[in-house]
Amino acid sequence: MSDESRPRRTRKRPDELRSHRWYGPNDLRSFAHRSRTVQMGYDRSEFVGKPVVAIINTWSDINPCHAHFKQRVEEVKRGVWSAGGFPIELPAMTLSEVFQKPTTMLYRNFLAMEAEEALRSYPVDGAVLMGGCDKTTPALIMGAISMNLPAIFLPAGPMLRGHWRAETLGSGSDVWKYWAELRAGTICQDDWNEIEQGIARSPGHCMTMGTASTMTSAAEGLGLTLPGAASIPAADSRHGAMAALTGRRIVEMVWEDLKPSDILTPQAFRNAVTVVLAIGGSTNAIIHLIAMARRAGVPLDLDDFDALARTTPFLANIRPSGRYLMEDFYYAGGLRALLRQLGDRLDTTAITVTGAPLADGLGAATVFNDDVIRSVETALAPGDTLAILRGNLAPDGAVIKPPAADPRLHRHAGPAIAFADYNDMAARVDHPDLAVDENSVLVLKHAGPLGAPGMPEWGQLPIPKKLLERGVRDMLRISDARMSGTSYGACVLHIAPESYIGGPLEFVQDGDIVEIDVAARRLSLRVTDGELARRRAAWQPPPPRYARGYGAIYLRHMTQANEGCDFDILARGEPTPDPEIH
Ligand code: FES
Repeated sequence: MSDESRPRRTRKRPDELRSHRWYGPNDLRSFAHRSRTVQMGYDRSEFVGKPVVAIINTWSDINPCHAHFKQRVEEVKRGVWSAGGFPIELPAMTLSEVFQKPTTMLYRNFLAMEAEEALRSYPVDGAVLMGGCDKTTPALIMGAISMNLPAIFLPAGPMLRGHWRAETLGSGSDVWKYWAELRAGTICQDDWNEIEQGIARSPGHCMTMGTASTMTSAAEGLGLTLPGAASIPAADSRHGAMAALTGRRIVEMVWEDLKPSDILTPQAFRNAVTVVLAIGGSTNAIIHLIAMARRAGVPLDLDDFDALARTTPFLANIRPSGRYLMEDFYYAGGLRALLRQLGDRLDTTAITVTGAPLADGLGAATVFNDDVIRSVETALAPGDTLAILRGNLAPDGAVIKPPAADPRLHRHAGPAIAFADYNDMAARVDHPDLAVDENSVLVLKHAGPLGAPGMPEWGQLPIPKKLLERGVRDMLRISDARMSGTSYGACVLHIAPESYIGGPLEFVQDGDIVEIDVAARRLSLRVTDGELARRRAAWQPPPPRYARGYGAIYLRHMTQANEGCDFDILARGEPTPDPEIH
């Protein structure tokens, strides 16, 4: 959109900038703020009366998905400088998905708090949020929503395709696939070692439609990125240019006072959910989007996902539910092309960080490969990329991704094999004496928000080895855990309330019949209410997992999966005042 056609917003004056409180007055404290900025080699003319832009950078040596952020942050700064702003880099906890234990989900709210408080406590007028590896995206956005300063998200971008011999490898998805083949004996250890060398070849987040690609696409759907930003591969030169443009844009957003609360309307969230469904996105997006919406004061719950899922076609042919990878998606036209395919399923009047509606320029978005980005007529599925299940086993809901499951398991009843926790499962699942067949239902307990704790991605329980050797590649698995967005299989997840706090899942015993019917959205246990009550009466609640520190705060304030797993004290409440300056 040209500057002339962008809706006019009242522009701030320099003395209305938030940073003016630090830099503007002629008093003792402001003298300190200015003299200490001068100490870093700046002239007063470079920062006084300029929009101060915090760049929240989640770079770390331990995060391969953000390995390029050292360079990207310089490109963001270039953009901020060129637009007349003053950039300050604020490093924040990285949440490196593969390394951080027990799970990054334990720390999503930590980063959200850190981002919010860093923005509040420093002389900041606006923020560039640099994230991409799974939980970094929702965490940064949640913090920015709560602070409600002008903010723009810069997605890390997906890494390049993986390769092994003539095969293309996808993050996560092909790890699970070839690990199963190794256990089944169809590939050897040398093959496995070669795969290790070729599956991750560049900076950038996982390049399947896992949680990272899902959440950066959702961020674009919400209107929090520049158009097209979510699909650019991290290693592409266009990614550096997008970083600089993002830096330029935030300066204008500050002058326009364009805040998350102006962008994150009910329509924006509806658009983001529609995007997640159309890309066949990760089940994790449900938790994150609900958490964001609650921060923004927008009503959004599991039923909204289920209702939209029934009619939103599955258009992005990307693994794990499809065939291609994010690099192919970019070459095929990227998210903008997919948005265009969605037509009036999106409310394109929703305003984005550009200050213009989502519709702006969308007419020019083109699909260059119609096998990668399908039309509504050639959709991979007409709907039901996610389904919300309820029943006596999940009174507050559970989630399944039907396209990732063997269709024979969409309607199924089988005897439970109940594992008390992850260690019990790991110890027994491959034991030759485990009484299991392909109709059994594997049940994992104590894997939820408080029970694991942190609700790790344990929901894709391994298929028992003896079934793998017989060629079984899918079976019904249920838990209160999450599942990696790169995973697949008939895995029922996010069962709420969780087992650790006495949800019905806690009382499943070996041999109980578990019944699923995806079309009817039902998950139930063929056990009478009376028998369940008897089991509950005999139950001793387990002790909390942590007695001190962050873990203890987490246990005290964490909500359940259907409520977004946010801290109750962060989700909503009276606004926190800006700090006094004395
Ligand atoms: Fe960072 Fe997958 S490990 S996105």
